[in-house]
Amino acid sequence: MKEKIDSIREKLLSELEEINDLKSLNDLKVLYMGKKGPISELSSMMGSLSIEEKKEFGKALNDLKNEVNNLLDTKKNTLEEAELNKRLENEKIDITLPSTKLHVGGVHPITKVIDEVEELFISMGYDVVEGPEIEQDLYNFEKLNLPKGHPARDSQDSFYITEEMLLRTQTSSVQARTMEANKEKTPIRMICPGKTYRRDNDDATHSHQFHQIEGLVIDENISLADLKGTLEIFAKKMFGEDRVIRFRPSFFPFTEPSIEVDVTCFKCGGVGCPLCKGTGWIEILGAGMVHPNVLRDNGYDPEKYTGFAFGIGPERVAMLKYGINDIRNFYTNDVRFLNDFNRVIGGDNDASK
Ligand code: PHE
Repeated sequence: MKEKIDSIREKLLSELEEINDLKSLNDLKVLYMGKKGPISELSSMMGSLSIEEKKEFGKALNDLKNEVNNLLDTKKNTLEEAELNKRLENEKIDITLPSTKLHVGGVHPITKVIDEVEELFISMGYDVVEGPEIEQDLYNFEKLNLPKGHPARDSQDSFYITEEMLLRTQTSSVQARTMEANKEKTPIRMICPGKTYRRDNDDATHSHQFHQIEGLVIDENISLADLKGTLEIFAKKMFGEDRVIRFRPSFFPFTEPSIEVDVTCFKCGGVGCPLCKGTGWIEILGAGMVHPNVLRDNGYDPEKYTGFAFGIGPERVAMLKYGINDIRNFYTNDVRFLNDFNRVIGGDNDASK
């Protein structure tokens, strides 16, 4: 008996040595522990033994069983661990490899400027309003002190659709619309961003379609000083805290006085450089006090009310701010240009880095 038990143990040990995978191990387990295995065979022989022998042999057999189970379990653990290690090795992630670049869409630079301007003026209590791009001559010109035949119409060569309808040449049309809609009921504080159209030949600085952001404030006792303070805040927000602005006399039919606004060059700080053409100043927008005719024609008593208006060109602001030298870049949708403003996660210009 004892020999038998020992030989089973030895056989198992040598067979275990050969096993390299879990499946073969399981087969081996079935072979040894199954009903037809050597251990079952030995137990079935117990019946013919004396009580003394049964005691001794029973214990030895039990020990063998436990030992076989332990050996099989230990081997199983070893194999499982080896398998796991192998998998980990295969699936190892090299965190030093450069990551895949994820291109996510970004906000167009023009939209960026418009958003920024809106945010600023909303914080100062302005409403953001809109008006139609296909506009009546009435709002685009006549109600802005530009009657038919007025020479200043020539400077805004227009796309007429009919005698009376055109693609608006300026968002100033929304000044007239807003005044008309309010008619002295409330003071006005609005900005109006939108597309405008002129029959220009497209080149580096001209586009037949471009954007404007109109601004209009009307209330009692509004003065040129209010306009200056407002535009100073705008210039500092868009071009930097150290900026100073200056007014130059100009002409727009719907404002009197009319002014052009310059800001100290944000590149050289005002000493003179190529960007400001050596002058230290950069022109940023047109503005003025709302002309009494315009107030009157749109339902406001010019004896009681005054106001100011301004027109910002987002293209110009974006070109200055981002150093873009061809306006056509905004419209041709070349991804190489647009990507300069987009976020590339994991890329060289990842904004989160
Ligand atoms: N509408 C003018 C233009 O297109 C700009 C402007 C707006 C000037 C408001 C004064 C006041 O040139």
